[in-house]
Amino acid sequence: MDLRHHGDAELAEGLVDLAVNVRHAPLPDWLAEPVAASLRDLARYPDAVPARAAVAARHARPPEEVLLTAGAAQAFVLIAQALPRLGATVVHPQFTEPEVALRVAGHPVHRAILPAESGFQLDPALVPGDASLVCLGNPTNPTSVLHPAGAVASLARTGRVLVVDEAFMDSVPGEPESLASRRDLPGLVVVRSFTKTWALAGLRIGYLLAPADLVAAFEEIQPRWPVATPALAAARACATPGAVAAERFIAERLAVDRAHLVAGLRTVPGVTVVGAPASSFVLLRVAGGLRVRAALRQQGFAVRRCDTFPGLGADWLRVAVRDTATTDAFLTALSTVRGSP
Ligand SMILES: Cc1ncc(COP(=O)(O)O)c(C=O)c1O
Repeated sequence: MDLRHHGDAELAEGLVDLAVNVRHAPLPDWLAEPVAASLRDLARYPDAVPARAAVAARHARPPEEVLLTAGAAQAFVLIAQALPRLGATVVHPQFTEPEVALRVAGHPVHRAILPAESGFQLDPALVPGDASLVCLGNPTNPTSVLHPAGAVASLARTGRVLVVDEAFMDSVPGEPESLASRRDLPGLVVVRSFTKTWALAGLRIGYLLAPADLVAAFEEIQPRWPVATPALAAARACATPGAVAAERFIAERLAVDRAHLVAGLRTVPGVTVVGAPASSFVLLRVAGGLRVRAALRQQGFAVRRCDTFPGLGADWLRVAVRDTATTDAFLTALSTVRGSP
């Protein structure tokens, strides 16, 4: 199983991108302008202090509890490299980079697989009590399941580091299940990203939130100047109250577009959508998924194969939520493909 397969590998010239969960939208001026202005300042080494303070304020935490990273992806590597190799549990199906980072760093990895039959809902009993490091996503890529904050928080305990990947939490209006501002849970590390909603995947900007001693341990092994000046400018802009309000607006629009996609998928014979998708992508089940994926490419659509996610297989595909016109065209193509032998 290729844990390093990513949606961007599904793309090709001329295909509509339903494979990568980055929003398709031009940068708003309030974001593009500071990023562009920062290009005049590239002779200096980056200064992360203002952006760190802005992100800390956004989550009502002190700056010592924030670490800016080159995308959420770098946070997983720092966590894996910094922590003792005592036994990690990764809750699947989920984004596979955390497991890759753990394995590369030499952690023994146990997979706790949430079954499709239970709608991929978090069952805390599946996580071994003695796991010293636990990783899960909320909302989870690729299932689009949003776990209740209480169930996620119940996994925290003294002597354990609990890593919650909230890279897509800003796709949920008001973020009711986020643990980002929780300072009372022992060993909680929340990983966040600016690259999805704000279409900044190429800029590499994310962060983690954790108790100050853990942040210090991660910072210690981080390369110097890990986040470039334009990415810091973006982080500062995206952490303002105005940006957070804009995220909420985008998330509310997304919910409408997602409902349109899910309703349409449920009318296609042989296609199943499990549970209530909550993020910017939807997981669907269809017999012969890999054949369907190949046929969709012939029809001009790139979707994400899901046989590279532990706990899923060839009959699962993930599609990004797009505007309703794109979705309608996709649904027509899917119906055609399903109808063909
Ligand atoms: C669930 C999840 N977490 C984290 C990441 C990495 O995000 P970033 O672009 O901030 O490194 C991704 C990227 O696909 C993701 O799907």
